[in-house]
Amino acid sequence: MKTLILMILTISLFALDGEKVYDTKCLSCHSKYIPQTKLLENIKQENELLKLKAPTIDELSFALKQRVGDRANDEESHKLEIEDFIGEYLSKPDLNKSILPYRVKSFYKTMPKLDLSEDELEVVSEFIYDYSEKMIEKLSVKRYSLKEAFNKAKEEKKIIMVEGFLSYCKGCIKMDREVFVDSDVKKALEKDFVFTKLNAITEKFPLGIKSLGTPSYYFIDSNGSKVLKKLHGSGTKKEFLDLLKEVKKLHSLI
Ligand code: HEC
Repeated sequence: MKTLILMILTISLFALDGEKVYDTKCLSCHSKYIPQTKLLENIKQENELLKLKAPTIDELSFALKQRVGDRANDEESHKLEIEDFIGEYLSKPDLNKSILPYRVKSFYKTMPKLDLSEDELEVVSEFIYDYSEKMIEKLSVKRYSLKEAFNKAKEEKKIIMVEGFLSYCKGCIKMDREVFVDSDVKKALEKDFVFTKLNAITEKFPLGIKSLGTPSYYFIDSNGSKVLKKLHGSGTKKEFLDLLKEVKKLHSLI
């Protein structure tokens, strides 16, 4: 028993933590989360607003997932492809091989070469890979399954908001990064809505709704029996908040 405890202790002492590696080896240049709307404003102002030394971890996370390897692969294979890319880039940085959007990379000089052990590379790559989605999950309103959403809406007299999405849909990513992470949007959704997401190809929509494309939004009354409004496309925070107000009005009329 004692040896077992000792073994577990030893393993956990030596287990590397991706965030720690990031904090000690990357954070001096790559800052952590900055809202995408602020980053876009910074790009407009040629990096004068934030004077970043390097792209943020969120920018890395998104660019790597979008542009390295094949997103149609399963997650584990895609993670490995990204780990290989990061490993190669750190050992031989070369802006010609950069996957950053042109406007972003134009602010920076090539990063210095960095030596990481294989274990450090593995955990730090995983931390970067997961980061963007973890932040969206942390900052946005909770998403429920369709069944939970119908139950919760009925109990709490809230409106069901269904989002039709696809993982590679640009407008969906834009909504996730620029609109849903906003605290005013989160508050408005939390107060009167229950949010659920459905894959527009593989999942069946309720009430015989036919997908309008992605992203698309379908608002259903709290009894789950009537579609109040449906629309297709992405928008700004203001447009989205106006839409929520309009839907609330429609709901109060039935
Ligand atoms: C001394 C500053 C500095 C440190 C430390 C640093 N980076 Fe960078 N990194 C940059 C800059 C500047 C860029 C943008 C220019 C470029 O791509 O070379 C960049 C770009 C990148 C890119 C994108 C490559 C591309 O496609 O353009 C990755 C991935 C990356 N860094 C990973 C890391 C990781 C992981 C660490 C920590 C283990 C790290 N960096 C540490 C400055 C740094």
